[in-house]
Amino acid sequence: MRRLIIDTDPGIDDAIALLFLCAAAAAPANGLQIDGVTTVGGNADLDQVTGNALRLLEFAGRTDIGVYRGREGRAARGREFSPDVHGADGLGGEGGRTVTMREREESAVDFLLSHTAAHPGEVTLLTLGPLTNVAAAVAADPAFAGNVASLVLMGGAEGGGNMTQWAEFNLWCDPGASEAVFAAGFPDVVMVGLDATAEADLTPGIGELLLRLDTPVSRFIHAITRTYANFAFIANGSLSFDLHDPLAAAYLLDPEVIATAEADVTIAVDGEQEGRSLVARTGDFPGTAANALVATGADTARFYRLLLTTLFPESAA
Ligand code: BDR
Ligand code: CA
Repeated sequence: MRRLIIDTDPGIDDAIALLFLCAAAAAPANGLQIDGVTTVGGNADLDQVTGNALRLLEFAGRTDIGVYRGREGRAARGREFSPDVHGADGLGGEGGRTVTMREREESAVDFLLSHTAAHPGEVTLLTLGPLTNVAAAVAADPAFAGNVASLVLMGGAEGGGNMTQWAEFNLWCDPGASEAVFAAGFPDVVMVGLDATAEADLTPGIGELLLRLDTPVSRFIHAITRTYANFAFIANGSLSFDLHDPLAAAYLLDPEVIATAEADVTIAVDGEQEGRSLVARTGDFPGTAANALVATGADTARFYRLLLTTLFPESAA
C-alpha cells in the first residue's frame, strides 16, 4: 500500500484531482492510501481553501481523511488573488455546500513532519499548490526531506509561465519556498509543470461527456469548471482549459501519462523573473547533477482514459 499526503489549495483543478485520487484509492488494485490532506493558501485564502478541502472530502465520502491547516502561500507574500480564474470561493462559485467535517488540530507542517518520521521512506507527497508548507517542514527538520519517499509537484515550467512570461503560479506564489524545496535533497522529485499540463485540457467535448454521465461527481465537476472555462475563453479564446493538478495526480497511478527528462532545477527568487524554474537538462549539460525529473509533455489520450475511467468506473466500458 502506498501512503500519500496531498498538499493543496483547492482550487478547481485541485478539486478534480482530489476527487480523482479519492476514486483511485477506492479501487484496491491501485494500492493507494490517502493518509492526509494539508492545505496552503494559493488559489484562494487559507480559510477558504481549508473549507474547500473539507467540503470535497465530505462530498467524496472520505470524512476519515484528516485535513490539516497549513500556511498562507500567496497572500503572506503580498500577492493579490485573481478570483477570475477559480472564483472568489476557489470553486467557481459552486463550492458553497455546508460542511460538517472539521479540520484536525495538528498543523499541516507538524503533520508532514510527524507522519513522515513515523513512516520513513513510505510516504509520497503530492503538492498541488504553493510550496510554503513543504519549505517550512524542510526548515524545521533536516531529516524531513530524507523521510519522504517521493515528492511529486505540480508547478514550474521549462518554457513560458502563466503568472508572468517566465513563472508558473504555484512556484511564483512563494519563490523562496520553491527554491528551498528544490535545494532540499528530496530523494525523488518529479516536477509536473506547464510544459506537460498545458497539453492536458478539459475540452468542451469532455464537458459534454460530464453532462451525459449525469452522476453527482460529473455534475459537480461540470458546475465548478464553468468559471474556469469562461476565464480560458476570455484569456485565450478557447473553452478548453488546463487540468494541471489532475495530470500530476495521474502520474502517481501511471507514470507513462507524462514524458520526463532529468534536470537540475533552481528557482529565481527575485527580480523580474521571480518564481521562474530554471531547468538545466543533464543531457544538455553533462556533469550537472539532476535534482528532479521534469515533465516535458503529456500522453493526453492515456491521461483522459485514466482520469475518466477512475472517476466514473460505473460508466466505463
Ligand atoms: C497551478 O495554479 C493553480 O491555479 C492551479 O490549481 C494549479 O495548481 C497551475 O499553474
Ligand atoms: Ca492547485
